[in-house]
Amino acid sequence: MRVVRSLQAMQKISRQLRQRHQSIGFVPTMGALHEGHLSLVDRARRENRIVVVSIFVNPRQFGLREDLARYPRPFRKDLQLCEKKKVDFIFYPTLRQMYPEDFHTHVEVEDLSEVLCGKSRPGHFRGVATVVTKLFNIILPHRAYFGRKDAQQAVVIQRMVKDLNMAVSVKVMPTVREKDGLAMSSRNTHLKPQERKDAVVLSESLSLARKLITGGEKSAATIIDRMRNHIAKKPSAKTDYIAIVNGKTLEPVKKVCAGCLIALAVRIGKTRLIDNYIA
Ligand code: PAF
Repeated sequence: MRVVRSLQAMQKISRQLRQRHQSIGFVPTMGALHEGHLSLVDRARRENRIVVVSIFVNPRQFGLREDLARYPRPFRKDLQLCEKKKVDFIFYPTLRQMYPEDFHTHVEVEDLSEVLCGKSRPGHFRGVATVVTKLFNIILPHRAYFGRKDAQQAVVIQRMVKDLNMAVSVKVMPTVREKDGLAMSSRNTHLKPQERKDAVVLSESLSLARKLITGGEKSAATIIDRMRNHIAKKPSAKTDYIAIVNGKTLEPVKKVCAGCLIALAVRIGKTRLIDNYIA
């Protein structure tokens, strides 16, 4: 495994791999790797000759009052995990390489970026779309792997790839969960012991939604209400949003249908967590 810090060196390697017709599977990350990331690496390993993982905590997708400073950065541990998974290249660029002082260009996926998480995190998806575009241009992947937990991110990137005719196949893989149902996230490490216990309300409320839907409930308002009441039982939990939307357009629906996305964001103490379920 090789760690590449220089953007130019990474791009040169990617070009050479492509010239040799070696398929490149790419897993973009911000580090603090967990089983969710590793499941993406496993899939990339199975489907490609070469696997590249990027580790870059992208400041442009964090708002002013967000957790950029306390975002975990266990680089050595990440390296060991990637080594075990037989990753070929870690791309680990510096901030200045990615965003030189004269950097002025952004990628904006309109509408899809402004709803759900985009409402409470203005500019977040612009930051994601911009950095992912840059990473695609540097790593030149044939396939790129994203987790379903960040469902809106996946929809935004799929739209961007389609709209801008990017030559990469986007693969969205299932959410990996802890034993009690909590979706794996690098932010789970911020949770205090009681908060960690309370955090299970996210997946519990989605299970409740699933049960209601299986039982014949179709009204989005009723399901959202029941989920909200369930979450309110935990004193440390504060709902940011619960939404039932079309899985492609992210527009709200009144009646739940197959393919609908049930998504929520909840603050547990100071930590904002997200989760979702596709009906
Ligand atoms: O999902 C993430 O970890 C990030 O949003 C990504 C895709 C690596 C872009 O910084």
